[in-house]
Amino acid sequence: MTVDRTLASRDRANRLFDAYGALLTAQQQRLLRRYYQDDLSLGEIGAQMRITRQAVHDGLRRALAALERYERAMGLVRGVANAEHYFATAPRSRPRPSAYTTTVRGRTWTFRTDRGVFARRGLDPGTRLLIETMHVGRADRVLDLGCGYGPAGLVAAALAPRGEAWLVDANRRAAALASDNAAAARLTNVRVIVADAAAPLADATMDVVVTNPPIRAGRAVVRAFIEDAWRVLRPGGRFYLVARTAQGAKTLARLVAARFGAARQAAAAGGYRVYEARRAEGDGGA
Ligand SMILES: C[S@@+](CC[C@H](N)C(=O)[O-])C[C@H]1O[C@@H](n2cnc3c(N)ncnc32)[C@H](O)[C@@H]1O
Repeated sequence: MTVDRTLASRDRANRLFDAYGALLTAQQQRLLRRYYQDDLSLGEIGAQMRITRQAVHDGLRRALAALERYERAMGLVRGVANAEHYFATAPRSRPRPSAYTTTVRGRTWTFRTDRGVFARRGLDPGTRLLIETMHVGRADRVLDLGCGYGPAGLVAAALAPRGEAWLVDANRRAAALASDNAAAARLTNVRVIVADAAAPLADATMDVVVTNPPIRAGRAVVRAFIEDAWRVLRPGGRFYLVARTAQGAKTLARLVAARFGAARQAAAAGGYRVYEARRAEGDGGA
C-alpha cells in the first residue's frame, strides 16, 4: 500500500473513503481528508495535527490498509468500479429515458438523459461551475470534449449564435441524447459526433474547448483530452477544464500547464475547480 497521490491512487482512496470512511477512526478520517481532498503535504498535516511527518505517513498507510480490508470483505467499490458512464461506447444497461429542467446562464433547459450516461439525474455541480465560468463569444467555434448528453456544449452553442458548437463523446447513447437535446432547444449550430477524444477534428480550428473529463477512465484518457484540446485550439484559443478537488484537480492543472505553458484557476466552489489555459499566440507547432 503506497501513500502516493497519482490520479489512480487518489481516485482509489477517495472511492474507498466514500464507501467505508465512516468505519475509520475520526483521526484516520481527518488524515485522509487533508491528504487526498485538501491536497495538503505530509508536513502541513503534521503541523496542523501536531504530530510528526512520519506519524502522518504511518497513519495514512494504516487508514488505507483498513479501507482495502473493508473492500476485500464487502466489495462495494468493486461493484461500481466499471461504472459504464465513464467508459462505455455502447452502454449495456437497459434504456430508461428521463428528463430534468434546470436554469443556467439565464436560460431554462430541459435535458433528456438516460441510464448509462453521466449525471443522468441532474446537472453535475462541476459542469455547472464550468458553464458559469466559460467565456464564449457570439461567433466562437466551441468544442465540448466528452459532452455526455450535452449540457456544456449546448449552453455554449446558445452563447455563440453566430458560431457553432461541436459536441464529442465516445458513448453513443450520450451522443444521441446530445443531438436530441440540441433539437429540443432549437439549436441549429450544433454538431454531435461519436469519437475517441477529438480524433476526427482538424488542428487549430476551435476558439474554445471545454471539458469535464472522465477522470475515472484513467490518466491516459485525460491526457488525450488535454493533448487534443491543445491540438484543435487556434493560437490564442481558450481551454476550460473542471475537476473535483478530491479527484486530483491540482494534478490535472499541472498536466494542463505542462501542455499549454500555464494554467490559471478561474473558479473554485463546492469542491470543484475550473482551470483556464490559452494556446500561445503564434504557437503553430507541437
Ligand atoms: C465526466 S463525464 C462529463 C459529461 C458531460 N460533459 C457533463 O458534464 O455532464 C465525461 C464524459 O466523457 C466521455 N468519455 C469517456 N472517454 C471518452 C473518450 N475516450 N472520448 C470521448 N469521450 C469520452 C464519457 O462517455 C462521459 O460522457
